[in-house]
Amino acid sequence: SETPVTVTLTGAGGQIGYALLFRIASGQMLGADVPVRLRLLEIPQGLKAAEGAALELQDAAFPLLAGVDVTDDATAAFDGVNVALLVGARPRGPGMERADLLAANGGIFGPQGAAINAGAADDVRVVVVGNPANTNALIASAHAPDVPAERFTALTRLDHNRALGQLAAALDAPVGGIRDVTIWGNHSASQYPDVSHATLDGAPVLPLLAERFGGADAAERWLAEEFIPRVAKRGAEIIEVRGSSSVGSAASATIDHVRDWVGGTSPGAGWTSVALPSDGSYGVPEGLISSFPVESVDGRLRIVQGLAVSEFSRARIDASVAELAGERDAVRALGLL
Ligand code: NAI
Repeated sequence: SETPVTVTLTGAGGQIGYALLFRIASGQMLGADVPVRLRLLEIPQGLKAAEGAALELQDAAFPLLAGVDVTDDATAAFDGVNVALLVGARPRGPGMERADLLAANGGIFGPQGAAINAGAADDVRVVVVGNPANTNALIASAHAPDVPAERFTALTRLDHNRALGQLAAALDAPVGGIRDVTIWGNHSASQYPDVSHATLDGAPVLPLLAERFGGADAAERWLAEEFIPRVAKRGAEIIEVRGSSSVGSAASATIDHVRDWVGGTSPGAGWTSVALPSDGSYGVPEGLISSFPVESVDGRLRIVQGLAVSEFSRARIDASVAELAGERDAVRALGLL
């Protein structure tokens, strides 16, 4: 049958990795008829956990799984890679300053970018999940000069899906009827979840929210004071309630991100949100890896153009983009770009 697609997963011994592997191997990411070869990259301390996951993959007897390699060598892991899922990252430790965090992650994503540059397949697609995801993607891309920058993305699909979930709950409607929400900016608390173009079963949601909350002003207050912060800080809420960070939903969003990139967004389902290198659209400085409303057509991502941006939206987009520019300047000052 078909030649297997090579998928490299970093942080494969971690929590999100464990949740991702079984869904990839079952065909939920690339399709039920596409064989997959998995390359699991870990640091030495994580190798045993990744090896254990590989044993379980064998035990799950996935017909599509053409092979699993476990390694701590980035060059071997990214050789021939078609889809790179960069999940492993350095978490912020106690007393760690932002510059320390950026530097530690630069030490991971720089060399991984270089290994992708050296060995990846021509069609390689990269999604960075490990935080700070947008800036880690920028660093990896900077170390991969031969790979088109547009192949480097960061995950904001989890935020997008969270926004859909919150809207569905507020409108007491099935999530499948809602489309065209947007996450703008950074995957951080400064992100802007925007519902101004969203619809439910074809009807704009803003009037529906006004009806629900008893007027346009009340709806705006709900958006500014509840919806936006709740989506932006949902990760912290999950940690508080679950006692552990978002894992299943993060893996699910990663699957959605790659599936839509490779297979296309369906015109009837509206756009999605992806952090990708800006081409200057919507006033976001060229080159910053920022989240936008995005459609995927014929395997390529393109920013949805021509959307009206209100004053309210403009201020929030600008604030998140300013944070991204600050992170870029900080990693540049550290010599990581
Ligand atoms: P985890 O700590 O369970 O797993 C991370 C794994 O990465 C560990 O096994 C570690 O050994 C490995 N690792 C560290 N450095 C590595 C390197 N240089 N090469 C290969 N592997 C390496 O963490 P979890 O829960 O799986 O989360 C992973 C990352 O995803 C974190 O940075 C987290 O903040 C981020 N995240 C991002 C989300 C998003 O929406 N963009 C959502 C949720 C989590």
